[in-house]
Amino acid sequence: MPADRLLVTGGAGFIGANFVHYWTQTHAGDRVVVLDALTYAGNLPSIESLRRLETFRFVQGDIRDTALVCKLMREERINRIVHFAAESHVDRSIHGPDAFIQTNVVGTCNLLQAARDVWGDGKGTPDCRFHHVSTDEVYGTLARDDPAFVESTAYDPSSPYAASKAASDHFVRAYHRTYGLRISISNCSNNYGPYHFPEKLIPLMIVNALSGRELPVYGDGSNVRDWLFVEDHCRAIDQILRMDCVGETYNIGGRAETANLDLVRNLCRLLDETIGASPRLQEHYPDCPAARGSSCAELITFVADRPGHDWRYAIDATKLRKATGFQPGESLVSGLRKTVSWYLQNEAWWRPLLDERYAQWVQQNYKRSERS
Ligand SMILES: NC(=O)c1ccc[n+]([C@@H]2O[C@H](COP(=O)([O-])OP(=O)(O)OC[C@H]3O[C@@H](n4cnc5c(N)ncnc54)[C@H](O)[C@@H]3O)[C@@H](O)[C@H]2O)c1
Repeated sequence: MPADRLLVTGGAGFIGANFVHYWTQTHAGDRVVVLDALTYAGNLPSIESLRRLETFRFVQGDIRDTALVCKLMREERINRIVHFAAESHVDRSIHGPDAFIQTNVVGTCNLLQAARDVWGDGKGTPDCRFHHVSTDEVYGTLARDDPAFVESTAYDPSSPYAASKAASDHFVRAYHRTYGLRISISNCSNNYGPYHFPEKLIPLMIVNALSGRELPVYGDGSNVRDWLFVEDHCRAIDQILRMDCVGETYNIGGRAETANLDLVRNLCRLLDETIGASPRLQEHYPDCPAARGSSCAELITFVADRPGHDWRYAIDATKLRKATGFQPGESLVSGLRKTVSWYLQNEAWWRPLLDERYAQWVQQNYKRSERS
């Protein structure tokens, strides 16, 4: 089989970086071109080790720059676009939705147009695929006993982030139905793992606990999310790309529904155990409660709930399982263990991200609730 030539947008972000590591390891003969604007969420050190590979290229640029995308696609004879680039943080979308409209909606439309320009309409491009990476948040919220989201669940987004992703999904589908563009879409639950920017729940809890800082939990912590280890997400996308499934949408989930407070308590237990067993880590993280025999759970602080906070997400991934046999390889317990261990071993990656700007942002956005 001829090697594939991938354009990976947002490949310096959390999932994109994991994806290009995964892809270069599992499909070593393929060309991988990353296009990333390097916003605050893009981080070159996440993919630094790949830049020595001849098959790998990094280009700093914006997906809204159609001329650049077309040039790159022609130059590199791209036959697969894997589209991760997005503004991805719900809290940021509440404070400033414009960037979400620009990147997630306008950017995706420009990328679709570039693919159409280069690949042409309809038939004649059998190995081309535009895979759009989306989220379960497009479906809105569930009550305790509601059935999990299936691919035909009506879209009902709550946050500007979810609304912008929903809009982008619609455009991707419309480009298939109208112009015959060879697309596929995946809607995935919450990811976690290496290279996760420490503004998101799991890495934020880990780095705060290590420094003895508060662990901010929204509302009463009862909101339920499904969690998927990021490498499992990458494997699922790989399987979708290899399937003959143009025009299809697949849900991807981790079968790990957990209330936020339980998740944070699990993380605290893991940190207590790991730091408690290592004099070296106790010396390195003296402000972590586990270093003096206490529990990180004492840092849990309830903060005012996020406006429009969806109560529960749950994914029914039967369609993907039936089509490819896909199952998550990591349970929440094993995945969290790997994640904690990665953050402990890679302080050089996350420490520089905790600059003053970031600290101010966290302070502004996580206001203590009356109850804390
Ligand atoms: N993180 C999750 O739990 C999760 C779950 C389901 C789906 N998703 C989706 O997966 C994708 C990746 O999410 P993530 O968590 O890795 O996001 P992220 O915020 O960590 O990374 C986004 C990347 O996109 C880049 N980018 C932003 N605007 C750009 C632009 N205009 N042009 C080019 N590059 C740009 C950033 O520099 C960054 O590297 C997103 O589309 C997101 O909606 C994420």
